[in-house]
Amino acid sequence: MEIIVLEPDAWAERVAAAWAERLTSRPGLSMCCPTGETPRPVYDAVVELFGAGQVSFARADVFLLDEYLGLPPGHPASCESMLRDALVDHVDLDPSAFHLFEDPNRDPGAAIHRMESDLGEAGLDLAMVGLGLNGHVGMNEPGTGASSLTRVVELTESTRRTATGYGAGASPPTHGLTIGMKRLMDASEVWLLVTGGHKAQILRRVLTDEPTPEVTASLLRSHPGLTVFADSDAATELPGSTVDLRT
Ligand code: PGA
Repeated sequence: MEIIVLEPDAWAERVAAAWAERLTSRPGLSMCCPTGETPRPVYDAVVELFGAGQVSFARADVFLLDEYLGLPPGHPASCESMLRDALVDHVDLDPSAFHLFEDPNRDPGAAIHRMESDLGEAGLDLAMVGLGLNGHVGMNEPGTGASSLTRVVELTESTRRTATGYGAGASPPTHGLTIGMKRLMDASEVWLLVTGGHKAQILRRVLTDEPTPEVTASLLRSHPGLTVFADSDAATELPGSTVDLRT
């Protein structure tokens, strides 16, 4: 595991630069992408690199990490809309290489089946994930095991409140679909993106407590290719010996 801590104003550019480097060395990169507040500045920075001709998604595959059930198609708080708005609509990704949970409300089982078949045997080169306030990864809520499959999940109150913050309304979805931990653990690399002082306590639990399914992200520590990209606000509770502050 590598823990990279960056100053907040340098964080997104550094993650975007690392991502561009991966895409350049492996243009057919297969990756899953999270939504929400944390990755947004990384997407802004990578779109800027794309505009400057420094990165291309033309041969890449992008998988949407998770999706809410119950929001109407095209709802701005859906994960699909958030990822389209932040990244997919602004780069040269082939539309057929954007893999999402298709029409999830009509038939969640079919959406899961399609996602799994698109992931195929090869799976993911890069699993990029955020960290929930309750330690979740994607919508793999506390209590999820490392071998969990892509599936329908019941959302915790904390995750529902976060959805309200994205604009999902005062009665946010109760369930969602998520790529399971097994697919994330099988990826060649996992990047855990964490920013902000409000994530400092959970990040300390993820990185320094005994790994437990009760803090889903702590299970990622057994992945040999885990990199944690944290900003210094999120890293304030980490023991000094675990971090390598880069500027
Ligand atoms: P955030 O959400 O990036 O909006 O904080 C992360 C998550 O809940 O997975």
